[in-house]
Amino acid sequence: MKTRAAVLWGQNEAWKIEDVELGEPGPSEVIVKTAVAGMCHSDEHLVTGDLAVPQEVVEMVGAPHFLPMIGGHEGAGVITQVGSNVTSVAVGDHVSVSFIPSCGRCHWCSTGRQNLCDMGAGTLAGGMLSDGQYRHHIGETPVNRMAQLGTFSEHMLVDEASVIKVEPDLPLDAVALVSCGVATGVGSAQNRAGVKAGDTVVVVGVGGIGANAIQGARMAGAANIVAVDTNPDKKEKAEEFGATHFFSSFDDAILTVMEMTHGIMADSCILTPGVTTGDLLEPAINVISKDGTVVVTGLAPMAQRDVTLDLFSLAMYNKEIKGSIFGSSSPRSEIPRLLREYQRGNLKLDELITKTYTLDEINEGYQDMRDGKNIRGVIVFD
Ligand SMILES: NC(=O)c1ccc[n+]([C@@H]2O[C@H](COP(=O)([O-])OP(=O)(O)OC[C@H]3O[C@@H](n4cnc5c(N)ncnc54)[C@H](O)[C@@H]3O)[C@@H](O)[C@H]2O)c1
Ligand SMILES: [Zn+2]
Ligand SMILES: [Zn+2]
Repeated sequence: MKTRAAVLWGQNEAWKIEDVELGEPGPSEVIVKTAVAGMCHSDEHLVTGDLAVPQEVVEMVGAPHFLPMIGGHEGAGVITQVGSNVTSVAVGDHVSVSFIPSCGRCHWCSTGRQNLCDMGAGTLAGGMLSDGQYRHHIGETPVNRMAQLGTFSEHMLVDEASVIKVEPDLPLDAVALVSCGVATGVGSAQNRAGVKAGDTVVVVGVGGIGANAIQGARMAGAANIVAVDTNPDKKEKAEEFGATHFFSSFDDAILTVMEMTHGIMADSCILTPGVTTGDLLEPAINVISKDGTVVVTGLAPMAQRDVTLDLFSLAMYNKEIKGSIFGSSSPRSEIPRLLREYQRGNLKLDELITKTYTLDEINEGYQDMRDGKNIRGVIVFD
């Protein structure tokens, strides 16, 4: 079948809407009619080249090329076709996608860390997870998909390891948001920073991920939630999600944290800016207390190696720096848990959507993100 999808052909180019030919689903594969796709900053990293798999690695996995690629890794939809061995979902089921597939059998899945599933190794380059073959083509050209998904597409052909069944009464826009931004942000605070009641937490960067780190900290009972964003327009939304203070300068935030904690400093600092640069580590380490935690969630350009850091204080003050992918949680348990929190009124999801776009308006949506207008822009399909 043919489907319309937003495809990236080259770095710093616009997304182009193409007719993509989808093959038949293999035994472990499904076709999903996409309902909603979220416009996360990680797809923007594909455009800027921050997230570009080097050609030698592409060749190592036996793939012809990194681009063209169908973008999008946040989304939800309805199953329309299943392969002969699919057992976890059936036609008509509502599903969330998961940008990390989970096999359920590898060392990481079986020890409760599906966000580190070994299947994640094949998510940026190559063919289908099951057999490495390409089943997405434009003419004769095989097409890659972001995170083995490609949610910026009217239909997705994916492995069942990449979808999670959700209750049919849930709005699919809420389901889509939870599949990346919400799980990543909330989990960065609750699972990785380990925010506890009474904590002081600093969140740097108030976009789709940071807004959720703020509400994750709020749900965990943090007393002070200090949001930092270079864009002062993010203050209102930061406060709506639970920030008690907002600063557009990290240095000002450090001074206030020093005062409010009587010199103890913050329990944790979560870095969720659009692009994580090495110079953000120094103020992050300075704003946390002895035994405090810095969580790095925002992506740095893949080739970046330099970090400014006071290593002496790191050791002498017993501090820690942790990376986090998918909020350091398991998609198959965390996505349903967060959706239950939404239904109970504890998690704000509707408020995350700043604006909706059609697939054809995708470049306008990403321009709005670059211009700092959106917490989350979402593409709504017919
Ligand atoms: N680790 C993961 O599993 C994971 C998952 C999803 C997204 N991400 C990454 O998280 C980051 C945030 O994504 P998003 O969709 O929320 O992006 P976004 O563009 O919606 O928001 C980023 C925010 O950071 C602010 N900002 C930029 N530079 C800043 C700085 N130096 N100091 C303070 N604020 C700054 C921007 O003004 C903006 O409000 C991206 O790098 C994305 O790729 C990581
Ligand atoms: Zn994302
Ligand atoms: Zn696994």
